[in-house]
Amino acid sequence: MKISSTTTSPFQIEANALIVGVFADESLSGAVAELDKHLGGKISRIVESQEFDPKPCQTTRLHLADGVTAPIIELVGLGPATQFNSGVAYRAFGSAAKSLSSTARKHIAVYAKIKTAPVVEAAIAGLIVGCHGSDLYRSEKKQTPFEQVSIGIDLRDAIRSGQIIGESINLTRDLVNASPDRLYPLAFAEKAQEVCSESGMEFELWNQAKLESEKCGALLAVAQGSDRKPCVAIMRYQGAESPDAPWLALAGKGVTFDSGGLSLKPSDSMITMKGDMGGAGTVVGAMQAISGLDLPINVVGLLGLVENMPSAKAFRPSDVLEARNGKTIEIINTDAEGRLVLADVLSIAVDMGVDKIIDLATLTGACLVALGPDVAGAMTNDSSWCETVRRAADTAGEQIWELPMFDEFSDQLKSDVADIKNLGTRWGGAITAGKFLENFVANVPWVHLDIAGPAFLEKPKSWMDVGGTGALVRTLVEVARTWH
Ligand code: BES
Ligand code: MN
Ligand code: ZN
Repeated sequence: MKISSTTTSPFQIEANALIVGVFADESLSGAVAELDKHLGGKISRIVESQEFDPKPCQTTRLHLADGVTAPIIELVGLGPATQFNSGVAYRAFGSAAKSLSSTARKHIAVYAKIKTAPVVEAAIAGLIVGCHGSDLYRSEKKQTPFEQVSIGIDLRDAIRSGQIIGESINLTRDLVNASPDRLYPLAFAEKAQEVCSESGMEFELWNQAKLESEKCGALLAVAQGSDRKPCVAIMRYQGAESPDAPWLALAGKGVTFDSGGLSLKPSDSMITMKGDMGGAGTVVGAMQAISGLDLPINVVGLLGLVENMPSAKAFRPSDVLEARNGKTIEIINTDAEGRLVLADVLSIAVDMGVDKIIDLATLTGACLVALGPDVAGAMTNDSSWCETVRRAADTAGEQIWELPMFDEFSDQLKSDVADIKNLGTRWGGAITAGKFLENFVANVPWVHLDIAGPAFLEKPKSWMDVGGTGALVRTLVEVARTWH
């Protein structure tokens, strides 16, 4: 998509449609007021008559307005100006874009009185995400991305960064939406490698033999039942001047399909499990964005890629595994596999000598029960590092909520035969999973983000099609921006 800023007036620009942002509690001003005047006050009258309520993401459409070259004016509500932020901008402009992209429209022009770089960036990202559908394999797509977008706002850097971020979110979404038969572990690693070579990042692949010599017994056990070989993909972005500067590690759960293994899931619960690589997908998207933005930070992305399948070779409930860090794990349920994959990936990050870790995983259904589908659970061994991540989410307009890591949750993981077991009781399941992971991060400041809810939409939103969401890519970019 070609995006550029324009000084042409909204009634003269040669576009297939205009997107016009309208605040709820403010009189129109700037280019929007100019357009309104040109239309004999039509826009302000629609708002005053309450025919159109400009709350966030509401849209309405005017056709063939006299004296306006563009045949469509898409009004989009931005809510009260006092409450306007990056989250609202992302969703509102996403909604307008999604609505307009249901028909092929080449050139869209955008006008709104939004002035600061962060909200312009979020608006552009939302626009790019909104017009990108999830129907990867449908011959006739439901949505067509615009070819060209002109923005009546002169903030070129924000427009550029918004585009980088929006495209990275779409990359994450495409990975999540891909068919698990096509996107198996090594195929996923190949995609990560492509991203690395396109953006000048270093790429390293740990194949099965390497994982065996590295004693990654937990990750390898999960992969045992599948005919697809497991791997760990490592993406390195050195944006700081020296490789000796501190490193941030982003670790992602990349279960390309989670059948549950021998503890087989019911069919209905399996449908969305192609998205169980959402953590790894988010890491790939964030790495692409961080490198595209040339941020002055060193980041390593680690992707634990496996498929969890039942077979005669599959690992069993009651098996005892030895993780890479030497801890033994009694398997209670082979469907609690994500924590086993991450256990070894986290220990790899620790041994690399990274300074801080964030892991992302579609880890537990319990997190969905606790926080609902739109909020990520955060768990940590370092409250100030968690506060940094939480603030970044605030800035990005994304929702994360910290869950307590009290000691007694670990009691649930005591095993009679091994150091720990891989499953506690039904109660506090998101937290016991976090407690399990804590065994593998040594003393490195670490935040675990359980994105089982926000990574995947089962029903579309006005600003986004169903399936992968790319949630938290923007938060990770914000973390990288505020690094030291
Ligand atoms: N990948 C799932 C978690 C999940 C569930 C993600 C729903 C997204 C939506 C994870 O591997 C899993 O299967 N967890 C089980 C644990 C169970 C065995 C106690 C769960 O949460 O149901
Ligand atoms: Mn599972
Ligand atoms: Zn899983």
